[in-house]
Amino acid sequence: MMMNRNEPCWCGSGLKYKKCHLSFDERLITLRDKGYIVPTRDLIKTKEQIQGIRESAKINNGLLDLISVSIKEGMTTQEIDDIAYNYTVSNGGIPATLNYDGFPKSICTSINNVVCHGIPSKDVILKSGDIINVDATTILNGYYSDASRMFMIGDVTDEAKKLVEVTKECLEKGLQAVKPWGFLGDVGAAIQEYAEGNGYSVVRDFGGHGVGLDIHEEPYVAHYGKRGTDMILVPGMVFTIEPMINAGSYELFIDPSDGWTALTKDGSLSAQWEHTILVTDDGIEIIAK
Ligand code: MF3
Ligand code: CO
Ligand code: CO
Repeated sequence: MMMNRNEPCWCGSGLKYKKCHLSFDERLITLRDKGYIVPTRDLIKTKEQIQGIRESAKINNGLLDLISVSIKEGMTTQEIDDIAYNYTVSNGGIPATLNYDGFPKSICTSINNVVCHGIPSKDVILKSGDIINVDATTILNGYYSDASRMFMIGDVTDEAKKLVEVTKECLEKGLQAVKPWGFLGDVGAAIQEYAEGNGYSVVRDFGGHGVGLDIHEEPYVAHYGKRGTDMILVPGMVFTIEPMINAGSYELFIDPSDGWTALTKDGSLSAQWEHTILVTDDGIEIIAK
């Protein structure tokens, strides 16, 4: 959609187009004409939308902070879900996963060989040695934020601890690879290199995603790949990076009894960390963590 130079910019800044996103749009058009994959305008968040996502993330971050001081051996994953539901709702938010596509709970709790999308249950009791990912997604005033963290329960083996730490470093490598006007493929390449360099594998079947106005938006963020490929990243894009790293093979299967729980095929441990980030003019802002 072309705009008149003197019209107010499409981003809602109140500035004239020529003083705001005109050169930005020209740069994207030039790249597109050269054959690069560029984001559509609906993937560029306005200031108002970004502020809405930040407010949503305040609840999501507060929830994960609360879980980090509450989680302990002997607790059920249903109790963590209850904390999530009560905290989110009492702060005016909505747990985005509750009833999403039939998902029955307010968070995902993925223990040991569960890769992701584990369903909280009153029958699952945290025991010493477990590693667990808690993934929280919050809606506030229509804006979505998404993050997950690992927790180590009681005495965890050195092997499990190393997987949790290296996976966190994989996320950090991914974050460092995000450059305004850089390539999305650089993110996956950085993560894959680091994970495989440590003898681990990168899950292929799930990835990060655009987020903000919906739970899952474009682009799909692969955690493996090649530098200099995939979408051009530009200021205003909001997406998650959420590497799932397996100690063994990256192959997984979905538990047929619930249709959600993803487990490693070989039974090996899996870990994951997730942030929601904004691409800025000079780097990134971590919004949900
Ligand atoms: N928070 C998850 C993600 O990172 C979304 C899970 S969808 C669910 O994308 F239905 F499985 F909860
Ligand atoms: Co998530
Ligand atoms: Co996500």
